[in-house]
Amino acid sequence: MIKPVLRAVIFDLDGVLTDTAHYHYLAWKRLADSLGIAFDEAANEHLKGIDRMGSLNLILGERAKQYSDAEKLALADDKNRHYQQLIAGITPADLLPGALDALHSVQAAGLKIGLASVSKNAKAVVERLGIMALFDDIVDAATIAKGKPDPEIFLAAAAHMQVVPTECLGVEDAIAGVRAIKAAGMTVLGIGDPAVLREADRVIAGLHQFDLVDYLY
Ligand code: G6P
Ligand code: MG
Repeated sequence: MIKPVLRAVIFDLDGVLTDTAHYHYLAWKRLADSLGIAFDEAANEHLKGIDRMGSLNLILGERAKQYSDAEKLALADDKNRHYQQLIAGITPADLLPGALDALHSVQAAGLKIGLASVSKNAKAVVERLGIMALFDDIVDAATIAKGKPDPEIFLAAAAHMQVVPTECLGVEDAIAGVRAIKAAGMTVLGIGDPAVLREADRVIAGLHQFDLVDYLY
C-alpha cells in the first residue's frame, strides 16, 4: 500500500505542548476532596481530553444524579476558576521540552500546524506560551458538538486547513484523544506511556523525542 504524504500535524495542548494536564488534575482534585470523593492520578488518566462537564460527571460517578444541572454548573465553574488561577502565571518557559523545536520543525518542513484541544481555556494558554503565530488553525472548542473520543475536533482542524485526514498526524497524551485521531483516519503519535496509549501507532515519552523524519513517508 502506498502511504499518503504528510501535510499537517495536529497537536493536542494539555499534556503535549505544556503541562496544564497537571493543573487540570490539581483543580479537579481540590473539588473532589471538598466533596469527599476519592480521586487520584489513575482516575485522572480517564479524564484527560474529556471536556469540563464530562469530566465532572465522571468524577461524581453514581453521585451525579444527586446534583441539579445548576449545581453541577456551579461545581464546574468553581473548578474552572481554580484552574484559571493555576494557569495565570504561564509563560513561554512552560512549554514542555522539545515542544518549540517540534513546532518549528513542522513549520520548516512546510506542513500545516493545527491545534485540537477541547479546552475552552486553550487560546489563553497558547497566547501565554507565545506560540499563537505558529498555528494555521486552532479549533474553537465552543464550536465542537462532540468531544474526544469523537473524531469531530480533529476532522474540523483538517477541514479548516484543507488537508485530508489521511495526510494528518495527530499528537495526543490522552486515551480519548488517541481514539479520536484513530477514528478520524489519521496517524496517531501518543505522548506518554506505551502501556496506557496502546492504541497509538507510535508512542514517545515527550516531544523532546519527536523527529519529523519518522513520519514523512
Ligand atoms: C482538555 C483537558 C481536559 C479538560 C478539557 C476541558 O481536553 O485534557 O482535562 O477537562 O480540556 O478544559 P476546560 O479548560 O474547557 O475546562
Ligand atoms: Mg491532552
